[in-house]
Amino acid sequence: MVVLGVETSCDDTAAAVLKDGRTILANVVSSQDQIHGPYGGVVPELASRQHIRNILPIVDDALQKAGMTLKEIDGIAVTYGPGLVGSLLVGLSLVKGMSFHSGIPYVGVNHLEAHLLAIHLEREVPFPYIALLASGGHTLLYCVKEIGDYLHLGGTRDDAAGEAYDKVAKMMGLGYPGGRVIDNLARNGDRTAIHFPRARFRKDSYAFSFSGIKTAVWHYLKSRGKEQWEAEIADIAASFQEAVVDMLVNPTIKAAIATGVSRIVLSGGVAANSRLREKITQQGDAEGLDVFFPAPKFCTDNGAMIALAGYHWLKRGRRDDFRLNADADLTL
Ligand code: KG4
Ligand code: ZN
Repeated sequence: MVVLGVETSCDDTAAAVLKDGRTILANVVSSQDQIHGPYGGVVPELASRQHIRNILPIVDDALQKAGMTLKEIDGIAVTYGPGLVGSLLVGLSLVKGMSFHSGIPYVGVNHLEAHLLAIHLEREVPFPYIALLASGGHTLLYCVKEIGDYLHLGGTRDDAAGEAYDKVAKMMGLGYPGGRVIDNLARNGDRTAIHFPRARFRKDSYAFSFSGIKTAVWHYLKSRGKEQWEAEIADIAASFQEAVVDMLVNPTIKAAIATGVSRIVLSGGVAANSRLREKITQQGDAEGLDVFFPAPKFCTDNGAMIALAGYHWLKRGRRDDFRLNADADLTL
């Protein structure tokens, strides 16, 4: 079965062609980072307008790279939530139109589910596994029991991890998005230079919180003055990152131990972080847990993971009709 996947939930316009849920024939992403960069975050109205400009060329490009015409596609998968409603509507409306015109069935995909399953684009990981989804919009912990069976274990009480990266990068004038820039800066910094606080919760809870560290960095920058903090920017980046990574790693390892599930899978844009990957692997090894993460291009938003999730639902016979609407607050 060949599935076309379309993703426009936030600021990336993406399309992919996936064969039999396994072979990626094309995976095209057009980032809007340059458009939103000057604002230090995604501007919803600009995002949806840009999706309108990008979506047709991106879908055409994906089909062309796959060496296929629409007629050879067996099903279409499109993100219908959660995300920015204007952005979601662009992809969903296009796909409904394509499906109506061509008669090819389509399914709406939950963006969160697609992130949780993205690892299967590259390798088989047996169920169940503990999945940490850390992105610009979400920080969630699930036990993935099988496709369609997701046990919510915990999530952030305030900001998402990626949001903390982006806000701290903005404070330091590092541009948007900030995750990769801070990750790179931190490579040359001392992660023990400054002790930023880690949010703590009850022993039996798998909660996250990143608003405190954001404020702590802000106070630190204020207390030092620009000239001084600019001189120690790599240490600040490394110390901030270490605190965020600890707050992501600890509940995840704790959840795996408490549930007796020996596999951990990371996903979402923050899962591309080099220190997170290193530390969770080390701590996982020490506890006898296997840790898996997708390649960075499958951690951030992409059409291949949407095609993959859609493939599983299409294979099970699900078909959506044209009444399906975008759902900005869709949960899993
Ligand atoms: O999954 P994603 O592409 O979009 C959302 O659904 O949010 O994640 C984007 C987020 C941004 O906040 C970005 O700063 C962060 O992922 N990010 C990183 C890294 N690469 C991207 N955060 C930390 N380290 C990275 N290497
Ligand atoms: Zn995402």
